[in-house]
Amino acid sequence: MPPIEQKSSSVDETPSNSAATMLKTPTSMKEFCEGLRTIFEDDFVDVDQVRSFMSSYDMTKDDAWKNYAIFDKYKYTRNLIDEGNGKYNLMILCWNEDQTSSIHDHADAHCFLKMATGTLVESLYSWPNDDEPMTCTKHSEVKTNQVAYINDTIGLHRMSNTSKTEKAVSLHLYSPPFQSCKAFNENNGKRIVCPVTFFTKFGQRTRPGRA
Ligand SMILES: [Fe+2]
Repeated sequence: MPPIEQKSSSVDETPSNSAATMLKTPTSMKEFCEGLRTIFEDDFVDVDQVRSFMSSYDMTKDDAWKNYAIFDKYKYTRNLIDEGNGKYNLMILCWNEDQTSSIHDHADAHCFLKMATGTLVESLYSWPNDDEPMTCTKHSEVKTNQVAYINDTIGLHRMSNTSKTEKAVSLHLYSPPFQSCKAFNENNGKRIVCPVTFFTKFGQRTRPGRA
């Protein structure tokens, strides 16, 4: 498993001077996916490089990701775009107004998030003690085209579309890919294992009840 770097979950939309700047700035979902494949040819995950490359993709000037933005009125959806040669899962999450995730971990993986449209609120939590209420340590907004990052050493989080009028769509990259994570009860810190399921894969609806 690639080493996880300790890094703030702060939002960043400014490309750094990393090697990612040597990659062509992606102008389409196809170029974006190709660039990610190139970056992840290396087994070491350079968090700054991935953040920088994701920041360079202006999703307001490309409509291709909308083919994967499939909503469900009952729950936010995960829609798989690319399995990244087994190195990562790239997916689109679709959030209706007022939809929210559980408080969850990321199964020892890197989690990169970029907003395609709308705004999500990230509520950050520390790992809980047994039978103690969980405390939110920080709220931050991730706005269209901004990139955020988290891993289990930074903490746990809940993502929410708090808007009453606007949907939100976010692009997520998890490396290495994982099939389950833990969801936490805010009142007592108790956790359950949750399978990571997809509403669609590669633009096609998955069979209900199956990952
Ligand atoms: Fe997450």
